Parts: sequence; structure tokens; C-alpha cells
Amino acid sequence: MTTVRDLQAMAGDEQITMLTAYDAVTAGIAEGAGVDVILVGDSMGNAVLGYDDTLPVTVDEMASRVAAVARGTDETLVVADMPFLSFGADEGESVRNCGRMLKEAGANAVKLESGPHTLSLTERLSDLGIPVMAHLGLTPQSVNQTGYTQQANDREEAEVILELARAHEDAGAFALVVEHVPANLAAQVTEAIDIPTIGIGAGGDCDGQVLVFTDVVGLAESSPPFAEQFGDVRSEMHGAISDYVDAVESGEFPGDEHASTSEELDDLY
Ligand code: KIV
Repeated sequence: MTTVRDLQAMAGDEQITMLTAYDAVTAGIAEGAGVDVILVGDSMGNAVLGYDDTLPVTVDEMASRVAAVARGTDETLVVADMPFLSFGADEGESVRNCGRMLKEAGANAVKLESGPHTLSLTERLSDLGIPVMAHLGLTPQSVNQTGYTQQANDREEAEVILELARAHEDAGAFALVVEHVPANLAAQVTEAIDIPTIGIGAGGDCDGQVLVFTDVVGLAESSPPFAEQFGDVRSEMHGAISDYVDAVESGEFPGDEHASTSEELDDLY
């Protein structure tokens, strides 16, 4: 079983691979393909649940998907991404929501979209034995303030990110996601802190990379500019499903091999 310590040992030596998954089947395939960490991202909101963004995802939806991913994997570190407003407003409630992901759903860690408001919570959770992955740069739960554009393009904002990265390391975070910031900022954050950085749209100098699985396999209708499509599952699925529809409509399916008969039942009607 991969632990947060294993990830910390990998940093600087071998690239950490993280991928999102939201169900047992995909998680099992990701584990078989050698992914180190599965993030049950709140990106499930737009990636698979049909919402426009991540904001409507609930704690119950996250817990259910985390449990499925945990059932579908044996070795991989499973990180639950805490939904919008499931943390931050009240510390007790935040701790209970995060604790649920480990206690009930089987996650190994939680991820918090981070800022100055998550420092004391990161410390509290870490003290309680709940490993925290921090997340800076573009944080999609703040879409109404920032949009989805690259963040920290000027010196002042970049310095804030560097400062927050250090502060979250000091607060006990075991790793940091750095999303959609200039590559030279992500490289300097990686230099400045000892915990692993996992980049998305942040260049190649982080300790690892993360992408959303629907972008990677080519299932998403559209993907962000920094993602890469490594397959064309959407066309594969479309082809298989239209072949099925054609076969049913033409009477080709089901064939004799797909059913059996019982002589005893021949003269029922
Ligand atoms: O929700 C998510 O999938 C994420 C990653 C893109 C880092 O937060």
C-alpha cells in the first residue's frame, strides 16, 4: 500500500503520477496501469455528474465515490477532494466531514483547495492523523472570483503562492497540488519546499503530475489547454453503443448463443 511517506520518498527521485477516478472500475484500471495516487476529485461534478462546475458536489456524493474507488483498489493511495463549503466555515464540521472520508469511505488522505483560511485546519487535521494534500494556484471552487485562467502571473500573486506553499508545509500538509500557474513559479515552489509538488498546467519541474481521467482517456467533450488526450474512449464507446443499437434494431442481437430454452415450457400457451 502506497503511503504519504512513500510519496515523500519518491519526490526528486521519480515522478509521482496522480490521476482522478470516480468509480471502482476506473480506479482498478488506473491502479493496474501503475498510477501512484488516485484523486477522487470534485472535478467529478463537471467530468461525470453533469454539473456545470464543481460547486454543487456534496459530501455524500464524494463519500460514495471515494468508497467505490477504495473498493476498486488495493495498493494505491486514495485522496478525497473535499467539496466546496464542506470545510472552512466551521472547524468542527470541517474535521467531521474530512474524518468521514477516512473513517467511512476508506480514503487515505484529503485534499483541500487552499488559501490563508486552510492553514489552521491543515494543522488540526494533520494532528488528528488525517493527511492533508494542499492545493494552490487555480482552485476551481473559486471560479466565481478567478475564472479558470492561469493564476499568479504577476510578482505579487506569485509571492503569495510561494508564501502559502511554505505555510502549508509548516502546517503539516504532506503534498501540494499546484494548478495552472507559470511553470517557473511552480519550479521555484518545488525548490522552496520539501513536500512533493504535484503539478497540473504548471510545467514539468514539479515532483509529479495530475490530470483528470476523462481528459487523459479522451472521454471529455472538451478539455483544458494544459491537458493531454492519450486515448479516444469517447469514440470507442460511441462505436460500441451504436453497434449494439444497430444489432438490436436489425434483429442480429440476441443470437441463439445468448439465451437457452426449456422443452418443458413449450406448450404453456
Ligand atoms: O478535482 C480535481 O480533479 C482536482 C485536480 C484537477 C487537481 O482538483
